[in-house]
Amino acid sequence: MALNWKTVWITGASTGIGRELALQLARRGCKVAISARSQAKLDELAGQQPGLFVCPLDVTDAAAVARAHAEITSRLGPIDLAVLNAGVWDPLDSSKYEAARAAASMAVNYGGIANALEPLIRDMTARRAGHLALVASVAGYRGLPKGVAYAPSKAAVISLAEVLRLELEAHGIRVSLINPGFVDTPMTAVNKFPMPFMVTPAEAAGKMIAGLERGRFEITFPWQLVSALKLLRVLPYPVYRALARRMTGGRQM
Ligand SMILES: NC(=O)c1ccc[n+]([C@@H]2O[C@H](COP(=O)([O-])OP(=O)(O)OC[C@H]3O[C@@H](n4cnc5c(N)ncnc54)[C@H](OP(=O)(O)O)[C@@H]3O)[C@@H](O)[C@H]2O)c1
Repeated sequence: MALNWKTVWITGASTGIGRELALQLARRGCKVAISARSQAKLDELAGQQPGLFVCPLDVTDAAAVARAHAEITSRLGPIDLAVLNAGVWDPLDSSKYEAARAAASMAVNYGGIANALEPLIRDMTARRAGHLALVASVAGYRGLPKGVAYAPSKAAVISLAEVLRLELEAHGIRVSLINPGFVDTPMTAVNKFPMPFMVTPAEAAGKMIAGLERGRFEITFPWQLVSALKLLRVLPYPVYRALARRMTGGRQM
């Protein structure tokens, strides 16, 4: 099937979901700029599939992100779809709270998206075209154990996407919010707890592409886990706390 996007930019493309998404989009004819810190992994990926263009960066470095945006648009043309996916998972426990670790998660998971949005929105509003996809997590729906560093950063991305969607539609820009449940990637490989309804990166990327093509705002999967967590989101605090403890036994997703 032909996709509408000629040029795509994916951050966090060296491993996991971003890597698989880059491969699937390039196989379907898109020119895909792939960004992450690890140049070696990006080079290895680009060697596997034509249509992938390596653009290493650290998303917390605003100047580097702006330079990457300029380089991609001059080499590949205007960015039709940006998937802002770079992220880190730090299972910090509240009893061992460290401000620096919480700030580091926020800097990558939220700040990295903010840094990319500035040049992207400037360019997309001028062209009155483009699609922004922000990767958050079902962990941003409500506070859950071990999420003291991760969950606030993802809740911030969910709120950011909601605002962007309201304001950017009038400028011709489409906004999507991607909230995955558990996906089998290096990020979740460190977890010792059970991860119900976990999907492969290929399944996750397939669902993301299908949702983005349909222009969906929220793209979330798998439905079994999402339904349970969406229910938690609307329950009153005492009920949510009791259920959250039973459902998670002290773990995060
Ligand atoms: N896996 C899950 O179950 C799950 C569930 C919900 C949401 N998510 C979200 O999905 C996204 C992708 O996660 P994943 O599971 O695919 O994890 P992953 O395999 O660990 O991939 C994370 C990617 O982000 C990049 N990255 C990390 N810090 C960066 C930085 N400072 N600058 C640039 N790139 C950086 C990593 O590359 P380098 O280390 O080379 O920089 C890597 O490419 C994340 O936002 C994550 O929070 C994942």
